[in-house]
Amino acid sequence: MTRILVTGTQGQVARALSERGGEIVALGRPELDLAADADFTPLFAPLAPDLIVNAAAYTAVDKAESEPDLAFAVNERGAGRVAKAAAALGVPVIQLSTDYVFAGGLDRPLVETDPTGPAGVYAASKLAGERAVAAATADHVILRTAWVYAPYGANFLRTMLRLASTRDEIGVVADQFGAPTSALDIAEAVLRVAEAMRADPGKRGVYHFAAAGGPVSWADFAEEIFRQSAARGGPAARVKRIATSDYPTPAKRPAWSLLDCGKFRQGFQWTPPDWHDGVATVMDRLAEGGKWA
Ligand SMILES: NC(=O)c1ccc[n+]([C@@H]2O[C@H](COP(=O)([O-])OP(=O)(O)OC[C@H]3O[C@@H](n4cnc5c(N)ncnc54)[C@H](OP(=O)(O)O)[C@@H]3O)[C@@H](O)[C@H]2O)c1
Repeated sequence: MTRILVTGTQGQVARALSERGGEIVALGRPELDLAADADFTPLFAPLAPDLIVNAAAYTAVDKAESEPDLAFAVNERGAGRVAKAAAALGVPVIQLSTDYVFAGGLDRPLVETDPTGPAGVYAASKLAGERAVAAATADHVILRTAWVYAPYGANFLRTMLRLASTRDEIGVVADQFGAPTSALDIAEAVLRVAEAMRADPGKRGVYHFAAAGGPVSWADFAEEIFRQSAARGGPAARVKRIATSDYPTPAKRPAWSLLDCGKFRQGFQWTPPDWHDGVATVMDRLAEGGKWA
């Protein structure tokens, strides 16, 4: 069995990995601060990992516009330091990255070799992180994913359910397209990548992993959340489909960031689940817990 060290303890992907059980050790703040100017090797070494997953990141897309130094410290230099420590320990690293590295100008599913063009600070810091990881060790997989949600943590699905408990109608942008991807499915993908990396040194490089069945707009996603929530007796609201220009945010987001996952499917012999199924699994968990947001 592979002993996996995952960074971050409360993050959506870190939690989804941790709850899978097995040989997974999560390390986060205060013990591990990715913004610290430190060598992480002595911190990681006693945990004797076979592989490291860097799931921790500065993920506040809008706040990053006013905190670029912190975003780059965590997402670029921190990711690079995690990868350096992995190299020092002689183990592979899986770096989580984002569909937001793309500019959004193409309207077909995006492949790993498509030109990047991050629109905001968060996206630029994540792309810089990909480069820092690649520079630190060849023994890496960079897994770009998208629009992450889970039964816990800060995410769009939980925000919609919370707002629906106090509002009848919610304005949601209908002109940005991607694929909402459950952290539970990302955890499965990461575990499959980890096993494949252990077995085959050829499985390295950049891969896209996102739920199937897109493109989906945020408004489509919201409508499906409320349809599935209502079916389980949870909160629901009407969705007012609005334009990005009607909902100005500090960070610009790509209008199109649908990831082509063909390389992942072929490389890891697993087809990402449909996004409706991902929503259903998370809704079942919330309904079971009886706490919607
Ligand atoms: N969320 C999305 O929609 C999305 C989309 C595409 C890609 N991704 C990528 O997927 C990965 C996982 O995202 P996620 O949604 O699971 O993230 P998340 O839920 O926002 O959690 C981020 C985690 O990073 C940790 N963290 C932040 N700053 C840190 C620091 N200075 N030192 C150590 N830990 C720090 C947080 O720790 P605390 O618990 O202490 O706050 C938290 O555990 C990230 O690489 C992200 O960029 C996310």
